[in-house]
Amino acid sequence: MSQHINRQWHLACRPQGMVKESDFAYHEAEIPQLEDGQFLVRNLYLAFEPAMRGWIEDRKSYIPPVQIGEVMRALSVGQVVESRHPNFRPGECVQGGFGWQEYAAASERGGLMPPTKIPADTPLTWPLGVLGVTGLTAYFGILDIGQPKAGETCVVSGAAGATGSIAGQVAKIKGCRVIGIAGGPEKCRWLTEEAHYDAAIDYKAEDVEARLGALCPDGIYLYFDNVGGDILDAALAHIALNARVVLCGGISRYNEATPPPGPKNYMNLVIQRARMEGFIVIDYTARFGQAARELTEWITSDQLTFQEDIQEGFENAPRTFLRLFEGKNQGKQLLKIAEPSLDRL
Ligand SMILES: NC(=O)c1ccc[n+]([C@@H]2O[C@H](COP(=O)([O-])OP(=O)(O)OC[C@H]3O[C@@H](n4cnc5c(N)ncnc54)[C@H](OP(=O)(O)O)[C@@H]3O)[C@@H](O)[C@H]2O)c1
Repeated sequence: MSQHINRQWHLACRPQGMVKESDFAYHEAEIPQLEDGQFLVRNLYLAFEPAMRGWIEDRKSYIPPVQIGEVMRALSVGQVVESRHPNFRPGECVQGGFGWQEYAAASERGGLMPPTKIPADTPLTWPLGVLGVTGLTAYFGILDIGQPKAGETCVVSGAAGATGSIAGQVAKIKGCRVIGIAGGPEKCRWLTEEAHYDAAIDYKAEDVEARLGALCPDGIYLYFDNVGGDILDAALAHIALNARVVLCGGISRYNEATPPPGPKNYMNLVIQRARMEGFIVIDYTARFGQAARELTEWITSDQLTFQEDIQEGFENAPRTFLRLFEGKNQGKQLLKIAEPSLDRL
């Protein structure tokens, strides 16, 4: 290997309030030497998830926190460039939890997500977005937790984001009338003109609660929430009888030093005999293959569209992460850090 330096970003400190670039530190390490059973992955694309903000908090969650001084945890796609594992050959592309670094010594098991091979005809970015955690979260959140029925009105917050945009379209495929809440006119235009949404509310310019009242005169049957806070409260004010409120995430509070009070309209869950339920996508791992096949069919039949926001340059990893909380990303936030160096198998 001609290059010997492995550029990395480490967690430098626990963020206080809004995460900052200075919460991460640049580091240079040696490219790891392989042991038997390992293979060397050269990262090509890093994926960014709002949940990563939770992974760097020092608190109990569904996975242990990243420790200070550790390589920042992240899902990514890379290419095998050396191997001492019989089943992973140089040239094959894999997805896994290889982190914010250029090279990772990987093994079949372990880490955030066991490495999975990417078929040679699949675009390299798709397993990080529409066919990865993002699309699968939308799929299981809407279908398993939300249980949409044809003719129902479904509302999605964070609707122009990677997960939200797919969630609304899956509800639409199931026959729902779908309304999205997103920040800014361009994102709202994309929802109604490209992503098959029936209507969109710009929460930065409009009164969300009043607009939901006007657009949902019979109430909201299915609400898929990505943001929490005031928008969740506005939706709860309009839920219909037996509504399902799917708690996918709450990005509006991820950078709050002190958690804000809970929703004031939660008693509507009682009045409307409604259900509010959270979920974590990794609980559905056994069904990922079937879901990815169905998502692929919807893409190829033009029922499902998606956006990818691909920034470039390994040095930009912390800055790219911040884009999620600034609302700058248009679809799945990715960072391209290298081209494949070997012919893809
Ligand atoms: N439960 C699970 O297993 C699971 C798995 C994956 C993701 N998630 C959750 O799904 C949600 C979306 O994740 P994603 O990866 O698809 O990200 P994303 O929606 O593509 O990007 C984040 C978006 O959130 C919006 N946002 C940022 N700060 C906000 C605020 N203070 N108030 C309202 N909106 C704000 C911004 O859009 P605007 O311009 O519209 O403000 C931004 O573009 C997150 O809450 C994430 O934690 C859950």
